[in-house]
This record gives sequence, C-alpha cells and structure tokens, in this order.
Amino acid sequence: MMGLEQKDWPLMFELTNKVLGSGDPEYQTDIPEAERGTGAAARLTAMTGFATMFAYFRERLEERRANPRENDLITLLLESEIDGEKLSEGDLLAFCFLLIVAGNETTRNAISGGLQVLCEHPEEKAKLLKDMSLLDSAIEEILRWVSPVHHMARTVTADVEIRGKTLKAGDRLIMWYPSVNRDEEMFVDPYRFDITRTPNDHLAFGIGEHFCLGSGFAKKELKVMFQELFRRFPDIDLAGPPERLRSNFINGVKHLPVKFTPER
Ligand code: HEM
Repeated sequence: MMGLEQKDWPLMFELTNKVLGSGDPEYQTDIPEAERGTGAAARLTAMTGFATMFAYFRERLEERRANPRENDLITLLLESEIDGEKLSEGDLLAFCFLLIVAGNETTRNAISGGLQVLCEHPEEKAKLLKDMSLLDSAIEEILRWVSPVHHMARTVTADVEIRGKTLKAGDRLIMWYPSVNRDEEMFVDPYRFDITRTPNDHLAFGIGEHFCLGSGFAKKELKVMFQELFRRFPDIDLAGPPERLRSNFINGVKHLPVKFTPER
C-alpha cells in the first residue's frame, strides 16, 4: 500500500518488532545478551527502531519529492494540504510510521491469534471449514477474542462521572480492549469462542474519533488469508505451544508451530 520495495519488507518487519516488541528480549538484538530483558534494554531497542524507521522514511520522502509517483500514498501525503498548508516533515514521518506499524503488527497478530484460537476450538474450526460463508462472522469473533491491540490511552478533557467513578479533567485513562470485549453485560457467555456470535459489537478497532482507519482493509486481509489458508491446508493444526510476545500493548504471537499436509 505504501509502495515500498519488496526487498525492504523484511526490514519493516524487523523494525516494527523492535518498536512494538521492544520489551521482548528476542527483539533486543542490539543489546549484549546478558543485559537483555531490562527496562533500559527495552527503551534502547524502541529508540533504535524509531530512529532507523524515521531515517528510512526520510529517504523515501526525498525520493518521492524528486520523482512523484501516480497512485502513491507517500506522494499523496507530500502533496496534501490542511487549511492551505503542507504537512511538516515531522507530520509526514509520523504518518508513514503510523501506517507501517498500525497496518502490520495488528493484522499479522490477528491472523496468527485467529489460527491459534480456531485450532484450540476444533469444533468451531470444523464448523467453519464445512461452511465458509461463516467466515465474516468468524472474523468478528476472532477480533473480539484476540483483541490484537491491548489498549489505547486518553486524557480526560472535562470532569465526568462514569458508572459511579469521577474522572477529573487531565486524568489519564486506559481502555483495555480484551476486557471490554469480554464484558458480560455486552456479550452472552463472553468466554465462549463462538464463530456465529450475533450481535458481536466488539471494540477491537477502538471507538470514537480515532476508530481504526484501516478496519475494512484489515478485515479483507484476514478474510483472504483464512480463505486461502484453509483452501490449501484444510488439516492445518497446532504442532506445539505458541510463543507469545512480551508486550502490554500488542497481543502478539511470535512463533506458532503448525503441521499440515503439503499441497500436491
Ligand atoms: C486487525 C487489525 C487492526 C486492529 C485490531 C486495529 C486496531 C486499532 C485501534 C484499537 C485503533 C484505535 C486507536 C485509538 O482509539 O486511539 C486503531 C487506529 C488506527 N488504525 Fe488500526 N487496527 C488494525 C488494522 C489497521 C490497518 C490494516 C491499518 C492501515 C492500513 C490501520 C491504521 C490505523 C490508523 C491510521 C489508526 C489511527 C486512526 C486515528 O487516530 O484517527 N489499522 N487501530
């Protein structure tokens, strides 16, 4: 979507792992092994990831300024104006960074988390394989169950009372999506994974003004992925315990061992 060369995709994977998985020793590769796992190692890893990513996108911005492209998101951002003013270099870099991080870490962990939960619930997986028209509602349930983003934060702008608790202007507040997506007042039997759940008003994509810009695109990605995966490897199953990402922001699966019969 961002028109990056395919040879750079592994770099984007490495850098998004560093930024969003900075607390996980596996991605603290610039730190001597004995010092990994500390808060300082996490901060340094995130900073290295940020700095390398920003330097990378600064070069892409230069390239596009010299040679604007048709139907290209980065060129579009460069040419965009808000109230007659072009975006600043900082805004442009932040936007590229946001799109790469938001579009990558979330969908791939929804896919691996979705495959994991389907394999852990063989009766639901069998139901889906028998009737792939259930895929749309299965994807909503995967999003509710996995909640790939753990939380977003807000700052309260005016005093308000919510369910007997007073929040003061300036208070910081964290919205925990896995919790809200298991709210027993909203979801019948919330700890049951049910690919036919209706209604399913989960908040995996957030709520309000900052509702996920890529939600439609993300659902499409998940749909194509599961359609193809189950068409080609219908007997795919777990072959060992998943290794989870150490993070309180992304509900990540780092390694998901699977077994399947290869295509003929
Ligand atoms: C399963 C996949 C995804 C999940 C679970 C997810 C989740 C979220 C959440 C929870 C927010 C809300 C942020 C807030 O309230 O502060 C958000 C915002 C956002 N998402 Fe996603 N996202 C996904 C996929 C994508 C994709 C594929 C893209 C882009 C291609 C994307 C781009 C964005 C952007 C740009 C925002 C910021 C919107 C704003 O601040 O106005 N997301 N996403």
